[in-house]
Amino acid sequence: MSKESITVIDNRTGEKFDFPILQPTLGPDVVDISSFYKDTGMFTFDRGFTSTASCRSKITYIDGAKGKLMYRGYDISYLATKKTFLDVAYLLLHKELPSEEKLKAFQFELKKRSYINESMKKLFDAFPDNAHPMAILSSAIASLSAFYSDSLDMDTPEEVMEMAHRIIAKIPTIAAFSYRYSQGHPVIYPDLTKGFTENFLFMLRAYPHNYIELKPIEIEALDTIFTLHADHEQNASTTAVRVVASTQAHPYAAISTGVSALWGRAHGGANESVIRQLEMIGSVENVDKYIAKAKDKNDPFRLMGFGHRVYKNFDPRATILKKLRDRLVDELDIDSHLLEIANKIEKIALSDEYFVKRKLYPNIDFYSGLILNALKIPKEMFAVIFVMGRAPGWIAQWIELKEQPDMKIARPRQLYLGPDEKTPKE
Ligand code: ACO
Repeated sequence: MSKESITVIDNRTGEKFDFPILQPTLGPDVVDISSFYKDTGMFTFDRGFTSTASCRSKITYIDGAKGKLMYRGYDISYLATKKTFLDVAYLLLHKELPSEEKLKAFQFELKKRSYINESMKKLFDAFPDNAHPMAILSSAIASLSAFYSDSLDMDTPEEVMEMAHRIIAKIPTIAAFSYRYSQGHPVIYPDLTKGFTENFLFMLRAYPHNYIELKPIEIEALDTIFTLHADHEQNASTTAVRVVASTQAHPYAAISTGVSALWGRAHGGANESVIRQLEMIGSVENVDKYIAKAKDKNDPFRLMGFGHRVYKNFDPRATILKKLRDRLVDELDIDSHLLEIANKIEKIALSDEYFVKRKLYPNIDFYSGLILNALKIPKEMFAVIFVMGRAPGWIAQWIELKEQPDMKIARPRQLYLGPDEKTPKE
């Protein structure tokens, strides 16, 4: 028996099985159970994969207890305060931060690809006016493989990078177009003189021949939100992207799947739910009633934007956004009605024993919801903003999976609880 192993004893037979323990750079040790079925004839059961490492990765590290998040070894607060989203996107794709020159070249590659094929407009036309922008976004990303079929070879790194650039560059245009179509407003083409984040806000808000002024704090706030969402280890949408990638599907198919997985209110839809809940609470006077509901064991009501599955300390992303929200309040004319309700809830939750004991801190969605609302971004675009930030992370995870020579198609097993074979009645 190796020292770096764990022994499982089958108490029914007394049989012993050894499984190697793998050492990570950081984080808990990992038991390699790849041979578990071959060795024992049994499957393992792990609802929601809470104890399962599904892959090896060098991209993102989270320590939930310490409230720590790093991309490629760089702490999130350094990246969010000293670097732009495009620096971070480059870091995720190329494993290192760009020099000034490399960043310029990267920006140029993205700008060149920010327009979409004019025929894609027929796709937008085909959707009803009230279509959710996420429905349009997932379809449009999948359709990029048809509109840009010249570079689809997944074994050629240049073609993979072409797909990566196209996805990151075209998502803001698709997102802005889908919103403008849903409002019946004219679409605004990308302005190549503007930076990545400024251009997106411009396409969302401008009108033909009308000059609009964007405040630097608005651009900074959105850029920071993109950075904070750029990757988050093996969450539901990233796992969905990896599962699709493991079937040898191209990045357009995998990223479109990621968009669908992110749409759920338990994932990318959470910050939209924060604002909807604040609107439902309606006034500061109602806050105590809803806090009581959140604490009532017999009431399914939960305070949206509080608690996190992994962070049992303050979410480091929330710490950064809390400061940004305070600056926005100072610099912009913010809807004080919702903010007042949010401030009262935040204050109670940070001092009330129920929330303190359970470590239910305000999470990233609480603050990003408030910030996006302050930036007058419509609620149905919140998840789309999340996608724009997460796209480089998904692509980095797609590339990493493809680079692993022992990569296997994802094929989990199950605990079958259905009927035994039935004898058909004659
Ligand atoms: N409001 C009130 N009580 C809560 C809340 C909340 N938001 N979150 C957890 N609790 C309570 C639970 O009732 C439970 O209480 P108990 O110990 O008395 O039974 C205890 O806290 C632990 O809750 P779990 O659901 O076991 O915690 P878990 O870590 O599994 O859940 C989750 C995390 C799903 C995020 C949860 O806190 C929640 O539903 N929050 C609200 C939704 C939300 O903001 N989601 C966004 C998360 S961030 C992201 O995904 C990017």
